[in-house]
Amino acid sequence: MFVEKNVPINIENLKNEVARYTNQSVQSEDNFEQVVQFIKLEHIYGAALEEISTKLHILDQDFQLKNSHNPIHHMERRVKKIPSLLQKLKRKGLEITAKTAQTHIMDIAGIRVVCNYMNDIYNVEQLLLQQADIKLLKRKDYIQYPKANGYKSLHIVVSVPVFLTDGTIDAPVEIQLRTIGMDMWASLEHQLHYKSGNVDRNIYRQTLKECALEIGDVERKMERIHLNIQQDQINER
Ligand code: GTP
Ligand code: MG
Repeated sequence: MFVEKNVPINIENLKNEVARYTNQSVQSEDNFEQVVQFIKLEHIYGAALEEISTKLHILDQDFQLKNSHNPIHHMERRVKKIPSLLQKLKRKGLEITAKTAQTHIMDIAGIRVVCNYMNDIYNVEQLLLQQADIKLLKRKDYIQYPKANGYKSLHIVVSVPVFLTDGTIDAPVEIQLRTIGMDMWASLEHQLHYKSGNVDRNIYRQTLKECALEIGDVERKMERIHLNIQQDQINER
């Protein structure tokens, strides 16, 4: 199952957005050309996301067939919208062009893979990375090394070939793998960023850190039960 957010593209709005960030005239040729390049980029990254999603979906089904267990609970995916891409380029002090975005921004295509258990995360990672057309570009293991606030997830960026009418392009896709518990935690922690009032925020931060540890304990216990049940079933065969 995929949860996907799609907003239709509007050229006039994009011309205004790009002009705002580049200080070019809305009507200029260059401005229009950049809009076209950004739309092409969205298309390429959308296709890359499809490729990765299909690979993950097939792996999940095959794992179920052979091990009677689905490692993936659900997936969420999105291509970064052009306005937030422009914003990110600006924030990083980069040139506002599609070409710069292509070389420097690694999370234009993003997929979140929510797994049932921690073991599933590393299984899915390994199964994906062993595929011949997948290249690992970047890896951050916030499960082994959680962030100070308690955040846990495995982040990898992989490149996947996208076959277009006029050639092949390798496009990066950011994959965040986490358990259901880690996902629940990250969603709540994300909400905290929109909460005003410093006192409240600090109290919540401390409690959330404790929650991260408790969720980890519960998930480990449940995973052990799951593995024992699986082993019993194998022994009974
Ligand atoms: P960017 O260029 O900002 O994307 O930096 P990065 O790619 O080095 O960042 P990182 O891989 O650490 O995090 C990328 C994404 O992970 C974020 O956009 C969030 O979706 C998620 N993430 C990372 N840290 C946290 C956190 O502390 N809390 C929550 N809720 N999400 C996080
Ligand atoms: Mg990122």
